[in-house]
Amino acid sequence: MGKAWGRNLRDNENTEIAGWIDVRPGAAEEAAKELEVSPEYLGTDLLEAIRSLSPDFVVDITSPSGHREVTTTALGMGIPVIGEKPMATDLAEAKEMVRASDASGKLYMVSQSRRYDGRIQAYRRLIEANLGELGILNSDFYIGAHFGGFRDEMASVLLVDMAIHTFDAARYLSQADPVAVYAEEFNPKWSWYAGDASATCLFEMTNGLRYTYRGSWCAEGSPSSWEADWRAVAEKGTALWDGHGDPKGQIVVEPGGFHSKVADISEKSFEIKSGIAGSLDEFLNALKTGATPNGECHDNIKSFAMVCAAVESSRRRQRVEIAELM
Ligand SMILES: NC(=O)c1ccc[n+]([C@@H]2O[C@H](COP(=O)([O-])OP(=O)(O)OC[C@H]3O[C@@H](n4cnc5c(N)ncnc54)[C@H](O)[C@@H]3O)[C@@H](O)[C@H]2O)c1
Repeated sequence: MGKAWGRNLRDNENTEIAGWIDVRPGAAEEAAKELEVSPEYLGTDLLEAIRSLSPDFVVDITSPSGHREVTTTALGMGIPVIGEKPMATDLAEAKEMVRASDASGKLYMVSQSRRYDGRIQAYRRLIEANLGELGILNSDFYIGAHFGGFRDEMASVLLVDMAIHTFDAARYLSQADPVAVYAEEFNPKWSWYAGDASATCLFEMTNGLRYTYRGSWCAEGSPSSWEADWRAVAEKGTALWDGHGDPKGQIVVEPGGFHSKVADISEKSFEIKSGIAGSLDEFLNALKTGATPNGECHDNIKSFAMVCAAVESSRRRQRVEIAELM
């Protein structure tokens, strides 16, 4: 992912890579060579790099266990940060990172790259423009992924490594925040993962909305989209998005009878800069204008809290209130 960000920064006309740091000796040099960039600093020492370069911002694409250290170090030296999801490995670390942003007065934004997708933005527009008050939101994520490597051994692999994207999308689509969750993680007999690779979660969200997540990373055949398969049910009708094409739905035009009379609705996918290129642009704009971007840490910690609360609920086999963890 570091190299993907490297290409993104290299190719953006408003950015220049001043330094590349990786704790593994030689890794920064190897990446710079592959990307054909020549940063002033290449090495293993973040403090030394920041002191010698005085960069405008730091991009934290380390593994999740490195996020707290890298991000709080940069913020502590007065440097804004854009970092990869998930914020941290637990909520205690994430809270420390938010406090570091408060203390320095500098922006810390988490890049939730799947928000920068013309189809999910069209889906949100379709919901907002037509449906009225949302009561039910469902997402299904079923992909048989044979990654190999660390994920095969990881605990809570689906919830911790992937569900943050879908949970964050649920907040983006509904504009609601989590209140509580009941979750069960499990691992079907045939699963090739050591940790739980499947989960069902029922979230209570603000305004009484119920958001249901069903997912599995060991589901062979008929995969869902990586964006999940969605159904939003509201006062005036229903909107669907299969995570592939344009969103569509039906709204009531004449209530009554056994089934109300409905009309089809749809929205064309928006033309936007997608993925991490979109989040970099939003971050740069926020630095320039002071606007609050998607993924700003005080907001993004709520998506991360959904993951932590779901894992905790599954462990306790009880409903967990988000406020208890926050
Ligand atoms: N948005 C997405 O779709 C997406 C996709 C993949 C990964 N990610 C996220 O990107 C991040 C990186 O994932 P990855 O798959 O590239 O991981 P990775 O393990 O392949 O690479 C992480 C790199 O960070 C380095 N590192 C670790 N701790 C460090 C520290 N304290 N200082 C400097 N360097 C350090 C490691 O040596 C390694 O080279 C993770 O947070 C991951 O969740 C996001």
